[in-house]
Amino acid sequence: MKNKRIICGLLLLSTISCSLIAQGKKEYPYKDATKPVEERVNDLVSRMTLEEKVLQLNQYTLGRNDNVNNVGEAVKNIPAELGSVIYFNSDPEYRNALQRKAMEESRLGIPLIFGYDVIHGYRTTYPISLAQACSWNPQLVKRACGVAAQEARMSGVDWTFSPMIDVARDGRWGRVSEGYGEDPYTNALFGYVSVQGYQGNDMSNSKNVAACLKHYVGYGASEGGRDYVFTEISRQTLWDTYMLPYEAGVKGGAATLMSSFNDISGIPGTANHYILTDILKDRWGHDGFVVSDWGAIEQLRPQGVAADKKEAALIAFNAGVEMDMMNNSYNNHLAELVNEGKVSEERLNDAVKRVLRVKFRLGLFDNPYTPVSTEKERFLLPESLEIAEKLAEESMVLLKNDNKTLPLSNLSKIAVIGPMAKDKEHLLGSWAAHGNAKDVISIYEGLESEFKGKSELLYVKGCDFEGNDTSGFAEALATAQRADVILVCLGEKKGWSGENASRSTLALPQVQEQLVQELKKSGKPVVILLSSGRPLELNRLEPLADAMLEVWQPGIRGGNPIAGILSGKINPSGKLSITFPYSTGQIPIYYNQRQSARPHQGKYQDIPNTPLYEFAHGLSYTTFEYGDLKASSLKVKRSDKLVIEIPVTNTGDMDGAETVHWFISDPVCSISRPVKELKYFKKEMLKKGETKVFRFDIHFDRDFGFVNGDGERFLESGDYYIIVKDKKLKIELID
Ligand code: BGC
Repeated sequence: MKNKRIICGLLLLSTISCSLIAQGKKEYPYKDATKPVEERVNDLVSRMTLEEKVLQLNQYTLGRNDNVNNVGEAVKNIPAELGSVIYFNSDPEYRNALQRKAMEESRLGIPLIFGYDVIHGYRTTYPISLAQACSWNPQLVKRACGVAAQEARMSGVDWTFSPMIDVARDGRWGRVSEGYGEDPYTNALFGYVSVQGYQGNDMSNSKNVAACLKHYVGYGASEGGRDYVFTEISRQTLWDTYMLPYEAGVKGGAATLMSSFNDISGIPGTANHYILTDILKDRWGHDGFVVSDWGAIEQLRPQGVAADKKEAALIAFNAGVEMDMMNNSYNNHLAELVNEGKVSEERLNDAVKRVLRVKFRLGLFDNPYTPVSTEKERFLLPESLEIAEKLAEESMVLLKNDNKTLPLSNLSKIAVIGPMAKDKEHLLGSWAAHGNAKDVISIYEGLESEFKGKSELLYVKGCDFEGNDTSGFAEALATAQRADVILVCLGEKKGWSGENASRSTLALPQVQEQLVQELKKSGKPVVILLSSGRPLELNRLEPLADAMLEVWQPGIRGGNPIAGILSGKINPSGKLSITFPYSTGQIPIYYNQRQSARPHQGKYQDIPNTPLYEFAHGLSYTTFEYGDLKASSLKVKRSDKLVIEIPVTNTGDMDGAETVHWFISDPVCSISRPVKELKYFKKEMLKKGETKVFRFDIHFDRDFGFVNGDGERFLESGDYYIIVKDKKLKIELID
């Protein structure tokens, strides 16, 4: 209040004119919607006091945060000048009430930006991101993000803390579920399309939201799969593995980024000037803002680089973090740091401009309020549900199918056993936003409608997700003995993955494995359905199963496609976006490892060296035959165009979709490169008997080139290989 009066006094405005401005009169250029954003931003910043600027850089919560990792009380007295809130409610009117305070009670009428974790859907919950990548269908993922944006924006959310594009190669880390798997290109591509889906062409559209690339950067390298810990990442690996998705997302126009919790080889992500300023702002020219992760600024203290909160604020702000999430570091200390000359006016103004720029681009100054609508008008719309079902379908991966056990046909009795069979809650996955178990179609419900009138379902739970209670085994076995086939529905609870949800093993709890061993005694075919938020250790279950389908945490519409795949109405088409190790002891194991000095040696003595299921593994009910790779030329100059083609024929007796993954390898280079690197993929529907020619237009710099430890791109002459499945073609690049 004090500041407001001083400024109005300085401007020789009466109390009356102060309130006129606050009510949205267009005295100032920044209020004029016809002026360019940059002019409005500059005008507004020139009118702001130090305190007003500092408040723009803080985020509180509105409503209680019931995320177990970030419990925060509702802030009752949110200052009208605050920059942002995390909005846990879904009522537009509640948002509007607070926004009204910002617009009408702050001196300059600056709107709040309302953020929220809309990770795999808002109310219409989609499969977890790890699963989405297994669809290899970027257009579908983009549409899903579009729906999430529409539901969120209509509910009062302007900004999602998504996509997470942390390359993750350790399934013990619970957050592996939140990203797109182990491959840099896959994360880059799905991150890019998510940004397009959330932001559209125009963030001011009332159905789009601002995106946030997170967690910048290297969080997926968490040691031992433990959360929040130190990560050891060389500059080379930082650039060729972890930065690529961020570069793609920034080029795709992502409005914001979130700094990461992890310490990157001694310099925490939230204190890292090199990545936050030198690269992001100076080299890539990002003009939006960086928000800290929850409490990450103050955490610079336990991380050992700041003595107290004030020093943490100083380090984070000067490193390049513009907004303080839920930490009171900036609102308590930034003004003082500016007055002491430790933070420059220039840096402060730049930070405020970045936040305001995003607010202007979201149209918040011109349309600060969310039109009030009913839940029915914005949630679970028919098209949204259709996308949810299709994405769940395409993300499921048929891991094993011996002797054509699947699809099931002409069976009179199907035993449906296991803790996941009738469950709804856990199919949602972690970070399910406003997803609601009552909207979920369970596996059992899906089966009921699919097999109605065709087969009888015999249900028994058998056992719980964990614990030692095997008292249900006898009934389960008796039920299995009466059936023609046994569907065992196993998996993880939703809280077993996500944030702060590390596990020491990828194996399912013993009781679930024992259940399958017991059922195997029936001699009936065993089909295992797995719902999980991470790759699993399946080496003990695999020999017991005739078929295995990984359904992930498919969201609210998983039940129908699961049943459709089992009946054969749907031909499965998902392929793994992450390696399934043979055992947890193989971690880290991923397809794009660097080359070994002795590839023929260095094996484990007690287990195989190869994973149980490789990256890109996934079966279909039909068969695809790959012809030979054909290049437009085998010897090329840098200025040439190179096109590689491969014919693929559906040789089975069912229509099906196939994803062709295009890898390259560069066996001799001035740095040791991975054994192979994914550069492109394409999914196509092929009718039975149909042949389609898949084509890859190579860009030498992008596809053959590599980055060094400072992100500079090089292209060397020499031999390269194009790899598709077991086909390989040598290309010679000459100067
Ligand atoms: C998570 C972020 C999330 C934020 C806000 C943090 O604990 O690491 O991913 O966006 O909380 O909920």
